Amino acid sequence: VSLNQVLNTTSPNLPTEPTKIKGWIKNIRNQKNISFIEVNDGSDLGGIQVVGNKDAFHQLKHGACVEVEGSLVMSQGKTQQVEMQLQSVKQIGECPEDYPLQPKYHTMEFLREIAHFRSRSNTFGAMFRIRNQASMSIHKYFQKSGFVWVHTPTITASDCEGGGEQFQIKHVPSPDLPPPSNLQAGQEHHFFGQPAYLTVSGQLEAEIYALSHSRVYTFGPTFRAERSNTTRHLAEFYMIEPEMAFIQQADNVDIAEDFLKSIMRDVMENCREDLEFFDKKVDPQLLVRLNKALDRPFVRLTYTEALEILTKQQEVVFENPIKWGDDLQREHERFLTKKYDDVPVFVTLWPKSIKPFYMRENQENPLLVDNMDLLVPDIGELIGGSIREERYPQLLNRIKELKMDEETYQWYIELRKFGSAPHGGFGLGFERFLQYLTGMKNIRDVIPIPRHQNYCKF
Ligand code: 4AD
Ligand code: MG
Repeated sequence: VSLNQVLNTTSPNLPTEPTKIKGWIKNIRNQKNISFIEVNDGSDLGGIQVVGNKDAFHQLKHGACVEVEGSLVMSQGKTQQVEMQLQSVKQIGECPEDYPLQPKYHTMEFLREIAHFRSRSNTFGAMFRIRNQASMSIHKYFQKSGFVWVHTPTITASDCEGGGEQFQIKHVPSPDLPPPSNLQAGQEHHFFGQPAYLTVSGQLEAEIYALSHSRVYTFGPTFRAERSNTTRHLAEFYMIEPEMAFIQQADNVDIAEDFLKSIMRDVMENCREDLEFFDKKVDPQLLVRLNKALDRPFVRLTYTEALEILTKQQEVVFENPIKWGDDLQREHERFLTKKYDDVPVFVTLWPKSIKPFYMRENQENPLLVDNMDLLVPDIGELIGGSIREERYPQLLNRIKELKMDEETYQWYIELRKFGSAPHGGFGLGFERFLQYLTGMKNIRDVIPIPRHQNYCKF
């Protein structure tokens, strides 16, 4: 049985036979004759308190892996909780005193350095239960709404977002084998002779399946080589990308709001204790802010309206003054979410000139595209999405205008020639979403093993 099941047992249902639990010692307290150890197997925020004779525990150290066996009783302490009266204890893995995760306060920076142990701490224990729940909530939402999960490739020939922030794949040939004879010089190290990259987004491939299965979504790792050494960029992050046929701009925004609120609600219902922990230890405004976002409609501004607000406001002096046609910087995003009392803000209909090739030109104003970004407090952009250019001549034109390689995108253009349909979708950055849910300041602390500039430790 997992600890979590044991701890949730109530008094009349406690088993009469002895129970065995395996886990790691999180705490040892000694009194005169008896000792208390706290054992946790990762299924719960707290551990189970095991009470035993001092001698029984005398060899055990904080961090050791143990199997304890004993009878479960309701604790006599202030909080009526299940505890164990020890009958026997077996050490599975010892833990010498130079264990880096000592039971005291550690900074997040230090914990990042011991990423191979940090999952045993309270904060990361809670984080990864929430991460697991959020993944399940996302799948649940899509599955009950008729979406089909599509696995898009990690290795790709295209550059979805443009900007060339991709990692290229390289073949490391065996020194014992002769180089393949059919490849030209300089191509041996490519993907079988062809340049190929780690994907920055599964969107283009998801569009194939939206144009056959109507509603699909991806949920997988994506990679970006941007040299952004910030608290909200990773080189490898997970993205969720729904892609839907037969929708328009307003639908996309409505769906994004419903999706986000639904998964927030589901996680809040299923991870109450862990979220309360973050509210207490990490961000005292967390639950207030999440509940407010759930209770109110998200703000909706066009890019042009947002620019008007940003240029007319007199409350703050921006480091980067902004004018129409510029991308929003972090300070501008901050200003907007603050102005609307921490409620998430959609910014729609951006200038075409600063957005990727696939976005659909706005019907009324050819300088704009039918797209949206969702901004949330502290983090900034959480979701980016758009309606796609589904018209053959317009897409071809845009690809030519941007001097993209037509041949690489031939298949994508053909989707517009044969059985095209209006369609669109969006991408949610999973780690940014987890930051939003937990109040964690650094994106490196919401992914099990982070990958970013200067960090590829194991
Ligand atoms: O805005 P982005 O670049 O949009 C796309 O990739 C589209 N193809 C999505 C779509 O329409 N299907 O990225 C989407 C989201 C961002 O809003 C952000 O939350 C996250 O992905 N993101 C990152 N998260 C962590 N580290 C990075 N380097 C990120 N870059 C983007
Ligand atoms: Mg974006």
